[in-house]
Amino acid sequence: MTNKLNLAIFASGTGSNAEAIIHYSFREAASYRVALLVSNNSQCLALQRAMMFAIPTLHISSTTHPNESEYSHALLNELRTHSVEIIALAGFMKKMPTDVIQAFPHRIFNIHPALLPKFGGHGMYGANVHRAVIEAGEHESGLTIHEVDADYDSGKVFAQKTVEVLAGDTPETLAHRINEWECEIYPESLHQAALEIKRGER
Ligand code: GRF
Repeated sequence: MTNKLNLAIFASGTGSNAEAIIHYSFREAASYRVALLVSNNSQCLALQRAMMFAIPTLHISSTTHPNESEYSHALLNELRTHSVEIIALAGFMKKMPTDVIQAFPHRIFNIHPALLPKFGGHGMYGANVHRAVIEAGEHESGLTIHEVDADYDSGKVFAQKTVEVLAGDTPETLAHRINEWECEIYPESLHQAALEIKRGER
């Protein structure tokens, strides 16, 4: 596709979603290209995966920028430098500054490994989510892709996928099964969202 939108991925961990998004972006028909991968964790695998594909990376954190307003100012500057038009949070463990959220209205997305609004909010990340789902005796979990607003896990839902909780599931087995769907659905959802932006619908 000509005129692909510039997408920035924000990630702090393993980066399986980041890599799936990067792979998808190489498709001819993809509506976005990955212009930047941002991380607050200089040691994370997500950064290394981006480097492997020669994607520009940025390490920025409260260590590099202890002052909160300097942090958000520097981050916004970098996003502008790379002409970023859409943002995908993929296991990003730092809260987005309000300034950035306001600069990208309806253009920042996050993926959460459960069916929001259930099992979301403060402290609900990683194995905590899957443990809570299993302890609650849920028969279904899944994933949610949603817009990012000023609170945790509360923005408008863009896409959801239900995944069955099986008897004997551990937080690890459930996480693994959901992650496989994440890597399939998140890149495709971002493609749809970028198309909406291109059509002026977002
Ligand atoms: C995913 O499970 C995602 O739902 C959550 O963080 C995890 C990131 O995994 N927000 P990875 O770093 O993409 O492998």
